[in-house]
Amino acid sequence: MTGSECQMDPGFQLFPEQASSFAPGVDALYGFLLGVAGFFTILIFLAIVFLALYYRRSAVRDRKRGSGAKLWVLEAIWIIVPLALTMVMFLWGTAAYIEQRVLPADAIELTVVGKQWMWKIQHPQGRSEINELHVPVGQPVVLRMISEDVIHSFYVPAFRVKMDVLPQRYTSLWFQATQPGVYHLFCAEYCGTEHADMSGRVIVMQPSAYAEWLAGGREQPPVTTGEKLFAQLRCDTCHYQGGQPRCPSLANLYGQPVRLADGTIVTVDEAYLRESILNPAAKVVAGYQTIMPTFEGQLSEEQIFHLIEYIESLSVMPADTGQPTPVESPARGFPASSRAVTPRSSEGSGQIPRRTSE
Ligand code: CUA
Repeated sequence: MTGSECQMDPGFQLFPEQASSFAPGVDALYGFLLGVAGFFTILIFLAIVFLALYYRRSAVRDRKRGSGAKLWVLEAIWIIVPLALTMVMFLWGTAAYIEQRVLPADAIELTVVGKQWMWKIQHPQGRSEINELHVPVGQPVVLRMISEDVIHSFYVPAFRVKMDVLPQRYTSLWFQATQPGVYHLFCAEYCGTEHADMSGRVIVMQPSAYAEWLAGGREQPPVTTGEKLFAQLRCDTCHYQGGQPRCPSLANLYGQPVRLADGTIVTVDEAYLRESILNPAAKVVAGYQTIMPTFEGQLSEEQIFHLIEYIESLSVMPADTGQPTPVESPARGFPASSRAVTPRSSEGSGQIPRRTSE
């Protein structure tokens, strides 16, 4: 399989193509499960046939009765062997699960909004697409996902990844494509009449072709869209750089722990920012009043993503310390100069430095 020709109809296959770094490991585990299940199915079937024939005659039954066979040996075998096999399945499956659930640092980070009945995907450089996902080969890609309406499920069989896409809650998945090509993208959760049509294509490209594709869009980066929205919604009248007694500053906030009014400490992540935009009274930072209006019902999930990306861009986290460095800006508002030090660059390689907390 080479190039970018469509490989979406390869005829009958027992397993989909292996096109991500997860695929060989998942298939090996699945093969082991099938092998164990198949072996015992055949063993039990043969045992039933043999025992039915062997003990058919009463003479054999009588002779064998009370022969003092060591039952505890048999019991030990049928306890220890299945226990060992299931523990192998458990530990192997756990390792595979953890590998998929721990998001890598330095991944390309895209946002996905599922809605009846389409997938909307946003790249940090600005390009957005519907029912198509362009990614480079050989680079880890993280998807941050949410649903605009009901539960969907993002499923790419060739990558062996699937994750529910939920309303009101962020979920994420990651993969690293290993083969250029075109692969199926499905919704794997029944979500209404057109669920079966909620599918698309994942196009895995060489990094140079991907960079070219990214450069082909004219849309603004989500950080820029978020910054405009931030001003449009008048967020900046209160949350300006440096803060003021009424509102906490948003600079260098992302990824940091904050103390709430009730004494608990939460880490500022995407979920916290989203909740604070939609339901500001839910987790009020200690020392501040509950004066922020709610934006519930006024923003699409994409707009919330844009705002969050903008707020994230206000935090500078050098890789060496993992701690934010202060952005010098005594003036009101977020001057354009502070954007020069943001790690979430809107141009360039598509690599987004990741935070230390996840
Ligand atoms: Cu979306 Cu099924």
